[in-house]
Amino acid sequence: MARGEDSSAQQAGIKQEKIEHARHKAYLFAGAAGLAGLMFGLDTGVISGALKFIAQDLGADDRTQEWIVSSLMMGAAGGSLLAIPVARHSGRRGAMLYAGLLFLIGTALCSVAHSVGMMIAGRVILGVAVGFASFSAPLYIAEITEKRQRGKMISLYQLVITGGMLLAMFSDSLLAYGGHWRWMLGILAVPTLIFILATMNVPYSPRWLVSRGRRKEASHVLQLLRGSQAAAQEELARIEKNLQREDGNGFTLLKTSPGFRKTFLLGIGLQAFQQLAGINILLYYAPHVLEHLHFSSEAAVWCTTLLGFANMLATGVAILLIDRWGRRPLLLLSTSIATVSLCLFGLVLFLKIGGVAGSIATIALLVTFILGFAIGEGPVPWTMCTEIQPLKGRGLAIACSTFANWSTNWLISNIFLSLMAALGDYGIFWMLAVFNAIFFLIALFFVPETKGCSLEEIEERLNEGARLRDLGQPASGSSGRHLTQDAGGAGRA
Ligand code: BGC
Repeated sequence: MARGEDSSAQQAGIKQEKIEHARHKAYLFAGAAGLAGLMFGLDTGVISGALKFIAQDLGADDRTQEWIVSSLMMGAAGGSLLAIPVARHSGRRGAMLYAGLLFLIGTALCSVAHSVGMMIAGRVILGVAVGFASFSAPLYIAEITEKRQRGKMISLYQLVITGGMLLAMFSDSLLAYGGHWRWMLGILAVPTLIFILATMNVPYSPRWLVSRGRRKEASHVLQLLRGSQAAAQEELARIEKNLQREDGNGFTLLKTSPGFRKTFLLGIGLQAFQQLAGINILLYYAPHVLEHLHFSSEAAVWCTTLLGFANMLATGVAILLIDRWGRRPLLLLSTSIATVSLCLFGLVLFLKIGGVAGSIATIALLVTFILGFAIGEGPVPWTMCTEIQPLKGRGLAIACSTFANWSTNWLISNIFLSLMAALGDYGIFWMLAVFNAIFFLIALFFVPETKGCSLEEIEERLNEGARLRDLGQPASGSSGRHLTQDAGGAGRA
């Protein structure tokens, strides 16, 4: 009897060990896909330090520089929509591999560019790669990780983006002394190759395999990821059930479901306002803005690196807090800090505060703005956009909100220098402060608290017709009864 207990305890131990081993494998695969975030960060971050030297060498005026910066966003906006059929046909893994290949071609073109046209062509190709990567990598991570790890993993992906940006800024700072812009851009071929090799070693997403009728392979991959046949079979059955519900497409749902129309618009709003908050104006153009304020060019590049560091640090804090405090408190705090710091920075510029006091105030306020952005405005839109969409419309809604993110990014980085000339330096930062204040109001009135809610619960509330604000945990003061009453009206609509 005792021996029987011993052996069953031993078996349970072996089983547990297998599950742990499989869990680590899943982390490893998610980490490999997460390298797409690194590429996203590296390729978008590298331009801030290189732009000035590129402009000198290739003879680019302010308007042309805007095109050089923003052509990547244009490519990314197109790439995020193009990624839907590619990811459907070749799998998320396939889309990531295409992204790797495009990263390589774009990097080569940019680093040997001898004309503005060639540079812009290279940046558009890099953009398409970023669009592919930013659509497919989070989707892949979401599809291979366990449900309870999903939120953390998506935020970790944001951390990797900021890490990539920081690394690019750091390498820019080192190479700035000789003005070696070709090296700044060309060195990215190394992480690109690592990304391609890593992606070649990840399995296909089991969900995609099922959708292509490759059930046996899906079952094999699930077993690899979960370490137990029973868990793999259970998940396989759930995927098949969900896929049956996915008959039709997101467009049909847009026509028939008022609830989906709301979450669809909220996703687009969150991503557009993430960009209107002005983060990339600072990250891409910080050296330009700082030199305009009489910082030396080396000091400007190093200060930009400091901003990148603050961005990464605060994103790490956000990961620790997002499941404890929740999404709403982080977003409300974040938008408040961003609004106040930009108002004050505009004031420093308006009053033309110069000298040491002006420099200290500038750096302190810009770092505060970045810290504010990174604890909420950065990670929350990416996380929430995957949480609030119903399964049937998820692909379409995420592609459209990702498109909104990149197209707004394109718009704002394309017109920034011209806008600064038109509105004055203080005018543009006050305008950004207003956008952040609107973002605060959106968070206050429309953003649900999804902390601790399963995706199925959120979808159920959506189907019952709950208000956007009540899709997660009901707002304090709104009772379950209230929720059901709301549900009655909207649900029938
Ligand atoms: C945004 C990027 C931004 C980055 C900065 C991301 O969430 O989508 O546009 O450059 O955060 O950390």
